[in-house]
Amino acid sequence: MYKTLSYEELDHRLKEMEADALGEGGVDAVLREFEAKWRALLEEQTARVKQEILERRRAEDKVRKLKREMERRVEERMAELEKAIEEQKKLDRMKDSFLTSVSHEFRAPLTSIRSFSEILLQYDNEDPEMRKEFLHIINAESERLSRLVNDLLDLSQIEAGRMVYRDVVMSLEEVVRETARIQFPSLRQKSLRLLLDLPADLPPVLADRDRTKQVVANLLHNAISFSSRGGEIGITAEALPGDEPGRPAGWVLVRVADQGVGIEEKDFSVIFEKFSPASADTLREKPRGPGLGLPICREIITHYGGDIWVESKKNEGTTFFFTLPAADPSRLEKGAEPPD
Ligand SMILES: Nc1ncnc2c1ncn2[C@@H]1O[C@H](COP(=O)(O)OP(=O)(O)OP(=O)(O)O)[C@@H](O)[C@H]1O
Ligand SMILES: [Mg+2]
Repeated sequence: MYKTLSYEELDHRLKEMEADALGEGGVDAVLREFEAKWRALLEEQTARVKQEILERRRAEDKVRKLKREMERRVEERMAELEKAIEEQKKLDRMKDSFLTSVSHEFRAPLTSIRSFSEILLQYDNEDPEMRKEFLHIINAESERLSRLVNDLLDLSQIEAGRMVYRDVVMSLEEVVRETARIQFPSLRQKSLRLLLDLPADLPPVLADRDRTKQVVANLLHNAISFSSRGGEIGITAEALPGDEPGRPAGWVLVRVADQGVGIEEKDFSVIFEKFSPASADTLREKPRGPGLGLPICREIITHYGGDIWVESKKNEGTTFFFTLPAADPSRLEKGAEPPD
């Protein structure tokens, strides 16, 4: 019943069975296919893992960049904040010193007014000349007080942007002459000569008449205050031709020059500052006021897009310059200006 198979037959039968079960290529072919599939899977997995690592790195880079950006912004904000705090502190200090100087300015004339009026009240039979002298002092000191109050009000109105400018086309020569006339008594008192050099063909300017007078008056008042007796003060003006599109008529340049005590170069900009620190040594030596005049001048001039600056030599003299927009002369017709 059992048939004995030779090795050759057995090998042949096994190959037949393998071919039946595994197809033509046999085990080798199956192994090759398996290896190919396995490799493909491995490559796919490796590519996916690589892609994931890449994406994670990109995300980490992004987070790092964002963190750096945030840190930079925080540092920037901190620096801005520190700067703002410093500025606020500086402003506080300036306001403190300004308040001290303003209170002093109020106290000085008030003290004179009170003392001289008390003397007048107490001593009826005082020499009439003396009484007149005292009344003059009281009058001058009240004027000083009202000037101070007006300046303070002007400055706070300018600060609040509430200053009203009524622009008219006007002759600068007239403005200068009218302003100078008011200061004749002070000029005479110090034996100062005032020379005006205003060319006849000077174009009119377009600005607020009272504010322009205020600028000229402040500069002239300073020139008188800081001049020694017997000196000379000059006011000159000239037209600067215009080449700007918005200002075809150009500018009028005005100079107010004196031969007084002069200003040191380091104070050239300080004197125009609001609440300017009264600390500048050179300024302290002089009979200075509350320091409101020049800041007001600057506000008015810059309102018109003009410039105001100073040139000076210690003990030789000072010249203030300012520019105002010139107007077309044909606009300066009769009735173009409101009566004074
Ligand atoms: N022509 C000048 N010659 C020398 N120093 C001047 C002259 N004009 C101004 N200064 C200096 O500039 C400072 C500031 O001037 P500003 O007119 O602003 O104030 P003030 O004259 O002291 O007081 P105020 O005008 O408010 O009465 C003066 O105190 C003075 O030290
Ligand atoms: Mg002044």
